[in-house]
Amino acid sequence: MKPVCVLGDGQLGRMLRQAGEPMGVAVFPVGLEADPRSVPFEQSVITAEIERWPETTLTRELANHKAFVNRDIFPRLADRLTQKTLLDDLRLATAPWEELSAAAQWPQIFASFNDLAIVKRRVGGYDGRGQWRLAPGDEAALPQECYGSCIVEKGIGFSGEVSLIGARGYDGCMVFYPLTHNLHQDGILRASVALPQPDGALQRRAESMLSAIMHELKYVGVMAMECFILNGDLLINELAPRVHNSGHWTQNGASISQFELHLRAILALPLPEPDVSTPSIMINLIGTDINTHWLADPLVHLHWYEKEVRPGRKVGHINLNHPDGQYLAHSLHYLATLLPAEYQSGLAWARQKLADLN
Ligand SMILES: Nc1ncnc2c1ncn2[C@@H]1O[C@H](COP(=O)(O)OP(=O)(O)OP(=O)(O)O)[C@@H](O)[C@H]1O
Ligand SMILES: [Mg+2]
Repeated sequence: MKPVCVLGDGQLGRMLRQAGEPMGVAVFPVGLEADPRSVPFEQSVITAEIERWPETTLTRELANHKAFVNRDIFPRLADRLTQKTLLDDLRLATAPWEELSAAAQWPQIFASFNDLAIVKRRVGGYDGRGQWRLAPGDEAALPQECYGSCIVEKGIGFSGEVSLIGARGYDGCMVFYPLTHNLHQDGILRASVALPQPDGALQRRAESMLSAIMHELKYVGVMAMECFILNGDLLINELAPRVHNSGHWTQNGASISQFELHLRAILALPLPEPDVSTPSIMINLIGTDINTHWLADPLVHLHWYEKEVRPGRKVGHINLNHPDGQYLAHSLHYLATLLPAEYQSGLAWARQKLADLN
């Protein structure tokens, strides 16, 4: 089997490498420090774990490689302006938006967006960074450089957030996981819950939207679509042309993880729909040091990224899955005793989601 080179060497690259290993697929995440002599880039298939990667001689080589899957799609989706334009062209519902060019737009923006505007950098934002939530009067605090480099969206009073992770093969066939329910706080994902039997109408709606996008782009591999639920329907928040944090539960909760699914798709291996037979929960570990007592719970699957722990930084996640919701609730209670205060509302949300959805 061909080796795979990944642009970027963060946790997503690490988990792609882990998924490749049992199948005998060698995966080489490539970051700033990578030594070109240790990476067999010439005979590899190339993919990316981030939308924009640092420039080195090696990453430039990979980015121009003829076997770089989806090469022209990355820049198109990495820029929120061209991403939103794609959604509008496909007539897919998304939060109303416009380009932010001058302060003179504000009266009209607040009038049409019902007095809540979210300014987002066109490129480079993540985990809620590069975003400003503004009500009338707040606009003076916006950095001047935002004009010309941001879009502005209507603030959506959503009842919940979900994401759909799917994959498309070279032959155009597509497969999907059940919808994932997500809780974000301050723009960063705290917890996800997925169930084997999602709401059928919402699932079909999401699949038809992501199908239209992957088909239009002739995309190959795993793509994530983040959505707001508003009045029982979906508005697309954003797309990620890669494996995604809200799909991490699939490592332990699906017969094929999103990481393996992505490798299968880009290597033209069989791509059956992954089987999901139990509810799953994923808790992101953010700025918290490792605690081996977590492992005392038999349902805990700890995924620790071996990164330096810093406030606000994703350093690992815990996956839980079990057919009996009571076992899951019990594990969540146990983890609540070991995790700091900022986790408590996310753990309570996950317990409630399980109860509501079951
Ligand atoms: N238009 C909006 N209305 C209301 N809430 C929003 C809006 N846009 C973003 N948010 C909130 O902020 C979160 C992060 O926004 P978004 O996904 O655009 O940013 P990001 O920093 O690129 O995140 P990611 O880490 O997923 O790439 C959303 O999941 C949602 O909770
Ligand atoms: Mg997001």
